[in-house]
Amino acid sequence: MSYSAREDYQSDETAEGYESRAMYSGFLGRRRVKIENKVIGALVDALDPQSVILDCPCGNGRWQPVLEKKASKIIGRDISKGMIKYAQNRAKAFTVKTDIALGDAENIDLADNSVDYTFSYALMKHLPVPNQYNVMAEFARVSRKGVICSFAVLSPLSWMYWRSRRQVESFPVIPEELEFMGKRYGLELEKIVKVSQPIIGLEYFAVFKKV
Ligand SMILES: C[S@@+](CC[C@H](N)C(=O)[O-])C[C@H]1O[C@@H](n2cnc3c(N)ncnc32)[C@H](O)[C@@H]1O
Repeated sequence: MSYSAREDYQSDETAEGYESRAMYSGFLGRRRVKIENKVIGALVDALDPQSVILDCPCGNGRWQPVLEKKASKIIGRDISKGMIKYAQNRAKAFTVKTDIALGDAENIDLADNSVDYTFSYALMKHLPVPNQYNVMAEFARVSRKGVICSFAVLSPLSWMYWRSRRQVESFPVIPEELEFMGKRYGLELEKIVKVSQPIIGLEYFAVFKKV
């Protein structure tokens, strides 16, 4: 199925302005960035050292300085030319090996079990649910140890908030679907960690172990 996030982030301007968007400014925006850094920092701390980590979609590479702490190599893939250009420039400062290139999460150009972990932030929520399954199949295929992937996950209260906002192209799932989706591709759901505003926020990380 088609979805707009394949095109929405293509330009150089979008990549350059990504971190100064309205959602990251003001009190709530700064709070969001703080929560993201705290949660992602803790998830990365729990990874084995010297890992090969796929960051998909890597966007402008903003999580790669965090991933670098546990990486021997960072592989970044994103479908946006603007984002990849920005991420490649950012990666020049890294001491670990990098391979940052255009790529499609639904058809990843890597061999089976060729990375230790896949890290994915803020993609699934933009994808119709059948595409989320395609992407999860690819993450499970290329990862030897595990997958850390964010989803928009509904709770009764956040569902009411989400519904009132009449979101277009927002594709949340129920918590039970994460376990089901993982099992389908040989991944065991270890935990779900919230990475968004209390109560109304939808974004969670699902941490999967390869079995
Ligand atoms: C909300 S941004 C998140 C980027 C990054 N993970 C971050 O947290 O800053 C969503 C990204 O998904 C990328 N994207 C959309 N569809 C994709 C696909 N099929 N394969 C790879 N990247 C995709 C977009 O180009 C965009 O950079």
